[in-house]
Amino acid sequence: MFGCMPPRDVLLTVGSEILEATMSYRCRWFEYLCYRPLLQRYWREDPNFRHEAAPKPRLTDADYHPDYLSDKIGDARRLEWAAKKFFVTTEEEPLFDAADVLRFGRDLVVQHGFTTNLAGIDWLRRHFPDHRVHAVNFPGDPYPIHIDATFTPLRPGLILNNPQRRLPDDQRAMIEQGGWQILDAAQPAHNAPPPLCYSSVWLSMNVLVLDPKTVCVEASEVYQAEQLDKLGFEVVPVDLRDAYAFGGGLHCCTADVYREGGCEDYFAVG
Ligand code: ALA
Repeated sequence: MFGCMPPRDVLLTVGSEILEATMSYRCRWFEYLCYRPLLQRYWREDPNFRHEAAPKPRLTDADYHPDYLSDKIGDARRLEWAAKKFFVTTEEEPLFDAADVLRFGRDLVVQHGFTTNLAGIDWLRRHFPDHRVHAVNFPGDPYPIHIDATFTPLRPGLILNNPQRRLPDDQRAMIEQGGWQILDAAQPAHNAPPPLCYSSVWLSMNVLVLDPKTVCVEASEVYQAEQLDKLGFEVVPVDLRDAYAFGGGLHCCTADVYREGGCEDYFAVG
């Protein structure tokens, strides 16, 4: 069992539905069980709530490329593989983690990487026929696991992108034609993650947007806070670094379950 600090990795809220992701690490197969009591409560209390679960994968050896994560593979080779979209998971069965999905109203932007394969993205496309599902990848990331330390929507029209993991030019068109701006995130305040943390220093940009004017930032991430302040946000510092070892940052350890407003169409063509 991995733990249950990051609900964002497992639960995907789209409209009035919460979908349990397949997950793709074997040690995370049972993690949905942590949230079942809560989801059952929502189901009882809200007659509009849809509780869905994606098919549980078998996660046999056929799901993983053997020795992909071997220490013998150097960084240069890993980056070559990431650029070719050759990841640790195969296309044996649909796999996705919810934290690889960003929601922009009608558009769902999904990172193809270690934890989400193309079959998983296709599964999402068929499951949400009223949404447009876009596969993206970030070749600068040799370990592409979850999108939320790489690409962070801040408010309608503005996205932060990790400057070491830029969205390739040919994939920016959809976002930029909608008039959105993609900004490089500020540098992290730390040179290394804290002990036992399996994420990168870029948890600096794993911020939690409360509304288009208010954003929570880890308290030690002073450069990220300064950048957001200059962009006009009210920045709420939150001490969370000591909890990184349990599975992630502020975005990871939260999941929205109730939102107001309708489903916007930000990237409509024509
Ligand atoms: N995989 C993400 C990172 O550590 C969370 O950058």
